[in-house]
Amino acid sequence: MKVNKNYANLKESYLFATIGKKVREYTAANPDKSVIRMGIGDVTRPLAPAVIGAMQKAVSEMGVAETFRGYGDDYGYDFLRTAISDYYNKKGAEISSAEVFVSDGAKSDVANILDIFASGNTVLVPDPVYPVYVDTNIMAGNKIVYASGNIENNFLPMPDENVQADIIYICSPNNPTGAVYSAEQLKKWVDYATAQNAVILYDSAYEAFICEDLPTSIFQIEGAKNCAIEFGSLSKSAGFTGTRCAYTIVPTELERDGMNLHKLWSRRQNTKYNQLPYIIQRGAEAALLPEGLAQSKTDIDYYMQNAKTISDAISELGIWFSGGKNAPYVWLKCPNNLKSWDFFDLLLEKANVVGTPGAGFGSQGEGFLRLSAFANHENTVLAMKRVKDILG
Ligand code: MLT
Repeated sequence: MKVNKNYANLKESYLFATIGKKVREYTAANPDKSVIRMGIGDVTRPLAPAVIGAMQKAVSEMGVAETFRGYGDDYGYDFLRTAISDYYNKKGAEISSAEVFVSDGAKSDVANILDIFASGNTVLVPDPVYPVYVDTNIMAGNKIVYASGNIENNFLPMPDENVQADIIYICSPNNPTGAVYSAEQLKKWVDYATAQNAVILYDSAYEAFICEDLPTSIFQIEGAKNCAIEFGSLSKSAGFTGTRCAYTIVPTELERDGMNLHKLWSRRQNTKYNQLPYIIQRGAEAALLPEGLAQSKTDIDYYMQNAKTISDAISELGIWFSGGKNAPYVWLKCPNNLKSWDFFDLLLEKANVVGTPGAGFGSQGEGFLRLSAFANHENTVLAMKRVKDILG
């Protein structure tokens, strides 16, 4: 027998698993320290009342023969697919409910989508970026080329006509840098993908945090429906990191290599995926209806207030940073030219604050660190006081 030897090319442990282990070891050795977690982007605000109400109603329905539901609809219940397409249509991205595939996470879909592409494609990945793109393409044995983000291009790399790519990942707002592409910049990516006959895999997991007049979906850009697939999530926008609900939008007209990608993804999901529970889908629907959206907006504002607390402290220290404006992450240059993991250790040991080392998001992230705005407000204020005390 043979195993997938591509796994040998991965780093031994997933970024957030490595951080979790280091923090557990530190807290076990220092039980008296109160560690503030601003590493993994995990939400802390409870679910919105509208979501809880809808889920409670759905629980009751499950206990009555007339309203009980067994296996869900293959791609998500119509009520949820319609709520998602309405959400898109309201922001000028024309999506039909048939193009929406409900799922348990953008992370899983971003990884699973590789099932519909042959192995051996050339994949263009921004650097730095969410590590799942790179890891899953290493597992699949694909060739990875990088589009380098840096201070000069505001961590928004643009296409290079001389680079050939079959699959292009775009994450906007970018995780980890918080940088957001403008409509003009995204149009250049759409034109490039079209010219290359490539497919853009567009991760919009943080779109709800965009406050400025910037695109929140690739489908707001002309021509995108012929070259892009989008991944969205309720994890950060509605506090669903534990509850789970995401979606993938595959346009019905998207074709490559003589095949229709919408049909391929439908076939893949039918075979390999069972839908989310009815209860969760009702909660997700409620999150996308006006009352739920208004309630989530309060939480988003709360996190963005944290982002401002972080940004203000970092600028007071005279440290370069990006993000924090249209994204719940602040991406900062490590002081004194420290390497990412050294600064991570310093923050953990001297300030008892957990960040995410930039090097974990790609080689271009070396020398940077990400702070998440998802902690509670009191802890964010305290963390920034501690950071100022050790760096000020
Ligand atoms: C992050 O911290 O980058 C995210 O929480 C990871 C994820 O969404 O899987």
